[in-house]
Amino acid sequence: IKKIGVLTSGGDAPGMNAAIRGVVRAGLSEGLEVYGVYDGYQGLHQNRIQKLDRSSVSDVINRGGTFLGSARFPEFRDEKVRAQAIENLKIHGIDALVVIGGDGSYMGAKKLTEMGYPCIGLPGTIDNDVAGTDYTIGFMTALNTVIDAIDRLRDTSSSHQRISIVEVMGRHCGDLTLMASIAGGCEYIITPETGLHKEQLLAKIKEGIYKGKKHAIVAITELMTDVNQLAKYIESETGRETRATVLGHIQRGGQPTAFDRILASRMGAYAVDLLMQGEGGRCVGVQNEKMVHHDIIDAIENMKRPVRTDLYKVADKLF
Ligand code: F6P
Repeated sequence: IKKIGVLTSGGDAPGMNAAIRGVVRAGLSEGLEVYGVYDGYQGLHQNRIQKLDRSSVSDVINRGGTFLGSARFPEFRDEKVRAQAIENLKIHGIDALVVIGGDGSYMGAKKLTEMGYPCIGLPGTIDNDVAGTDYTIGFMTALNTVIDAIDRLRDTSSSHQRISIVEVMGRHCGDLTLMASIAGGCEYIITPETGLHKEQLLAKIKEGIYKGKKHAIVAITELMTDVNQLAKYIESETGRETRATVLGHIQRGGQPTAFDRILASRMGAYAVDLLMQGEGGRCVGVQNEKMVHHDIIDAIENMKRPVRTDLYKVADKLF
């Protein structure tokens, strides 16, 4: 191969810039030409592709977001749209594509691979919901952002002897909520993995009040319930003032942490290694501190993320 492309797709994540930089710099050091595709699959379909050089990725390792831009582009499910995308890559003579994104983006990469165009997927999402990797790029940075918010909520909750509900992103994966709860010392965790059991939650909160706890922080993954309604319910059942805070897109921004910069750099360089070895249709992960790669179709269709029962047990003991 002589020319490769790189794009970021789906929800952005801190560390995506570092991953693009990793692909570009590793590609150039292997003598490849590297092309950036703007705004994900949408830009690929619209042929918004430009050659990148070393300086295109100067001063980006420390920046959140993605300088290539990202988009959600459901139209990519249409085979004709994908055929046009492949045509555009061929016009530029690009032999293979590195896709940085979450599971939706992997789906696009999988479909291109099935149409005979080689893609490598890098897991870039704050949700940590991609199979075949212990951590996704952006997760640790978002985790630190959530912990910072929880620390602040703790100050005000304890001053007012209130119950605080904090809604955390993650879509259908509770990893961000779970780990933030342990690091933030939250009293109660509600995730898609645990389910929401209102009676149990109330019993635990009442037990805490009985034990003399001045405040309580309940961490809950988004999309599970209306947190303002839940706050009203808890307040009416316990007699304690309760407030809900939705952290929202604040969790997606900010400077990537050292962990994410290093992970993204390693993954970007590893994607180029794989392409140099003639691999395609793979997705990159880190497992037990080692770089690994899996079949992208297998990762989407068959591989499951392990539920961190070990961490739920730890959290339970420490409350
Ligand atoms: O996948 C990342 C994520 O931030 C999820 O946690 C969240 O559910 C979703 O994206 C929000 O998407 P959007 O930015 O399109 O509103």
